[in-house]
Amino acid sequence: MPQIKSVKDADVAGKRVLVRVDFNVPLQDGKVANDLRIRTALPTLELLHTKGATKIILLAHLGRPDGKAVEMLKLAPIEAKLRELTQVPFEMHENLRFDPREETNDPTFAAELAALGDVYINEAFADSHRSHASIVGVPALLPSYMGLRFAEEMQRLSVALTPPQGSVALIGGMKFETKIPLIKKLLTLYSEILLGGALANDVIKARGLPFGSSLISGTPVPSDIAVDERLQVPTDAIFSEAGSSAERSGSVVDVRTNESIIDIGPLTSKHWAEKVSKAPFVLWNGPMGIYEQGYRDGTDHLAAALTENNIQAVVGGGDTVAAVEKHTFNPEKVFLSTGGGAMLQFLVDGTLPGIDALRR
Ligand code: 3PG
Repeated sequence: MPQIKSVKDADVAGKRVLVRVDFNVPLQDGKVANDLRIRTALPTLELLHTKGATKIILLAHLGRPDGKAVEMLKLAPIEAKLRELTQVPFEMHENLRFDPREETNDPTFAAELAALGDVYINEAFADSHRSHASIVGVPALLPSYMGLRFAEEMQRLSVALTPPQGSVALIGGMKFETKIPLIKKLLTLYSEILLGGALANDVIKARGLPFGSSLISGTPVPSDIAVDERLQVPTDAIFSEAGSSAERSGSVVDVRTNESIIDIGPLTSKHWAEKVSKAPFVLWNGPMGIYEQGYRDGTDHLAAALTENNIQAVVGGGDTVAAVEKHTFNPEKVFLSTGGGAMLQFLVDGTLPGIDALRR
């Protein structure tokens, strides 16, 4: 298989360099609310500048504007944040997804983008599961390299595919149907999978336990997964009734028909925190409760256990990363992946369309 070349080996002196970055970051009141994805691209930009690139042109997307220009999804706030963070001169192309040809990988769009530069760098690991023009079309047309962070993502996520005996995977969030290949793969690699969020509800249901009015994906859980005891679901949970802010905790089997499971309960939090704090390696993607609605205790408790005990870990997904970032941690031990969907797909397939495009 051809090796992927690194930006370290790229001859960029006197050249125009196109850098695909993933700056799809949360905005609040028109300002960048989390700049992890922006900060992680800085070493590559600084390297290109030091090596004498004449022009650095950044290609990025924000949100899902569906091929139309959307005022709220212009990249100006992101560009402003990047100018605050670096002195490196750069130009920023407007949101690639304002053009419908980006997502369809239209060759005319790839050619238009490629004409802007002499060299292409992929520093957008988090978007490399998308076969879009800027990810797979442009590298077919220009000498192409991976960015420094891109290489680190591949290397650190590869560690999660060869975990030591006794490692634990914590998987949360929603949409069980999209996580089936991941769970199957992880069951071949990890000693235990601790399942939280709405994902756990599907397994609770499949095991014939009550789930009240909890969110369920609708796709039946394959029976080999449902019966696998290494796949653990919470034994106690936090419940609430629709439309009420009141909540209570109790054994999962005691959920009432009009209640939903909104977080793992205190006993499960404690038990799982002990497992995390003893594991030789932890892979974590997805919150344990409905994080965006403020049900964060279970996730925060596990984030504290992970960081306080200096556990070797790979963590991905916006909410999960945000929970871990609240703590002080050693980045040599805990790797915060910029990839959400890309991380999950890499774990399942061991590659991504954007990685394959760089191998050609
Ligand atoms: C992400 O945030 O995971 C990437 O930027 C990809 O965004 P998308 O899911 O809208 O393609």
